[in-house]
Amino acid sequence: MDWGMKNRLSRLIQPDGKALFLPVDHGYFQGPTHMLEKPGETIKPLIPYADAIMLTRGVLRNCVDPAIPKPIILRVSGAATVVGEDLANENLVTSVQEILRLNAMAVSMSVFVGSKYEHQSLSNLAKLVDACEDYGVPVMAVTAVGRELEKREARYLALCCRVAAEIGARVVKTYYCAEKFEKVVDGCPVPVVIAGGPKVDTQREVFDFVYDGMQKGAVGVNLGRNIWQTEHPVAAIQAIRAIIHENYTPNEAEDLFEQIKAGKA
Ligand code: R5P
Repeated sequence: MDWGMKNRLSRLIQPDGKALFLPVDHGYFQGPTHMLEKPGETIKPLIPYADAIMLTRGVLRNCVDPAIPKPIILRVSGAATVVGEDLANENLVTSVQEILRLNAMAVSMSVFVGSKYEHQSLSNLAKLVDACEDYGVPVMAVTAVGRELEKREARYLALCCRVAAEIGARVVKTYYCAEKFEKVVDGCPVPVVIAGGPKVDTQREVFDFVYDGMQKGAVGVNLGRNIWQTEHPVAAIQAIRAIIHENYTPNEAEDLFEQIKAGKA
């Protein structure tokens, strides 16, 4: 692996081999998402606890201080919305020159395995990998999104992750599944991070699935709504960080969460 690629990956995946990515890219297909109406304000108190922030160039340019101390994962696929014909009908929407100009540490794009646009999104992944590898920029594939979420089970997720890695993604994002998640990770030759999906009912559920996913081999999370749509996002991200980087159990994370909420930690 080239020095530049290694250097970028080491800024994302920390020396302990773990990572907490904070995505705020949801507006690219669903507009002003709840709690993300002003993304700059949403992320400000969370930045110290994230290892990288994932967002589009528009939000980066307009809402984020260029002196931000954390690396950027730039979302570079889009051009489909929740009110359009099919969310899976995406294309690449950002050039390599722009990726370099914005000093992105990595890029991300969605792949829609099993959708009508499977071939298009996988071909776009291949094109992006070819273009980014020339400059040592890692590509993170965002698998299993949109309608395909209905197929949130290990066999499908494992297929998505493996295909994305075979095409050249350096990191793969997937969803957690309660059964046989280890098969998803074991079948993928590159690091896997877990997304949260729509906000779940309790904070404890998030601690449980993050912990279990880590035990089964994920290197971390790319977790958005289950942090910044919660009532106590700063306490939530610190407790999740403790699971990822300090091996906290869900019980310990919950205690920490309660202490931070009460202003005691
Ligand atoms: C899809 O909307 C985006 O790629 C998100 O970055 C990804 O789904 C992770 O966010 P969340 O944890 O909110 O699902």
